[in-house]
Amino acid sequence: MTESKSIPMAGLDAEAIRAQFPILNQPVPEGKSPLAFLDSAASSQKPACVIEAVDDFYRSYNANIHRGVYELSERASLAYEGVREIIADLINAESGRECVFVRNTTEAINLVAASWGRANLKAGDRIILSVMEHHSNLVPWHMLREEIGFEIAYIPLTDELELDLEAFERLVREKAPKLVAVTHVSNSIGTVNDIATISRLTHEAGGLLLVDGAQSVPHLKVDVRALDIDFLALSGHKMMAPLGSGVLYGKYKLLDAMPPYMGGGSMIRKVTLSGTTFADVPAKFEAGTPAVADMVGLGVAANYLKDELGLENVRAHELEMLEYALERLESVPGLRLFGPSNLDHRSGVVSFTLGDIHAHDVSSILDSENVAVRAGHHCNQPLMQHLDVAATTRASFYVYTTRADIDQLIVGLNKANRIFGLA
Ligand code: ALA
Repeated sequence: MTESKSIPMAGLDAEAIRAQFPILNQPVPEGKSPLAFLDSAASSQKPACVIEAVDDFYRSYNANIHRGVYELSERASLAYEGVREIIADLINAESGRECVFVRNTTEAINLVAASWGRANLKAGDRIILSVMEHHSNLVPWHMLREEIGFEIAYIPLTDELELDLEAFERLVREKAPKLVAVTHVSNSIGTVNDIATISRLTHEAGGLLLVDGAQSVPHLKVDVRALDIDFLALSGHKMMAPLGSGVLYGKYKLLDAMPPYMGGGSMIRKVTLSGTTFADVPAKFEAGTPAVADMVGLGVAANYLKDELGLENVRAHELEMLEYALERLESVPGLRLFGPSNLDHRSGVVSFTLGDIHAHDVSSILDSENVAVRAGHHCNQPLMQHLDVAATTRASFYVYTTRADIDQLIVGLNKANRIFGLA
């Protein structure tokens, strides 16, 4: 299990990084293997600096924001507002006011559907999604279609499990879409989509582009201005920040023209018994008391990711882990992998089936070896239908993944094969 620990890694020293994650350094009971956490695509682990920032908020300056004129409240408000600039810097937005704070990617996409979608889509319009979308970028549009009656076209996949951009171009030319909403990186098979080309074709046709960045922003440099992205949704909890911290980026002009999503405190300019006028962006979209401590944690996580680790190093490390995993997985009998063969078009995710063993059984046996993976449809049922499988087992890598984790995965898969009599 430890055979390859001495091989140097490109980009990052994962062993040193691992030391900064308390959950990965808990004492291991005798006879048990250390935790090989290979489920970061679902939610990443948190470094001590993020945990300490949240702890410090509650110990030192916990107060509601934008309400009190006392020192604690002002300190909390400043810390919360400061995170907008950190996120703007991470994704190269023009300004922090283009970053609306939400709980997660799902909420960000629902916000766009409910606000921009309801105001701008009408019966007969076309929007374009893809076959590899997460349910969070399918269901809000299906729900809105029920209400409005627009048409949804889907970008199909090539045999390589990449988006078929020739088919996309045909769809765009056949009927100009009002919106194209696609994932940057597939959560279940790791395909990295060519957002630059999708953006060009979308804008040439006069549409807007929404990118689901849940699986890209934590792993690669995403530049909303270079890629000309109109809306970008991201989840903090997949990039080492607390659960419940997320961001919707939107170009200021678009956000400014959109009606509010939820009504309540903080998002108003004036309320009388005859009606309400609304605050400016981004407050207009942030009704109620927000998750202040979690957003403070997001700011610390974003700085850690871009300044301490560096996104180019993160990408290089994950590609190295991917290459190593693919090489080791070749030795496992009965394993069928899903994902592009061009590694430059992949993220640090391996998705597979093992003979006829159900993915949940594979994952339970891996758990007995202290290997944590996700098994199931990964909130990607249309993609599973396309692959003609009910479920896959998915191992996903991040900054703290080591070759030893992958070796432990291989040990567990060989054990599954032995138990089910496949090897
Ligand atoms: N979207 C998350 C995943 O892929 C939960 O596991």
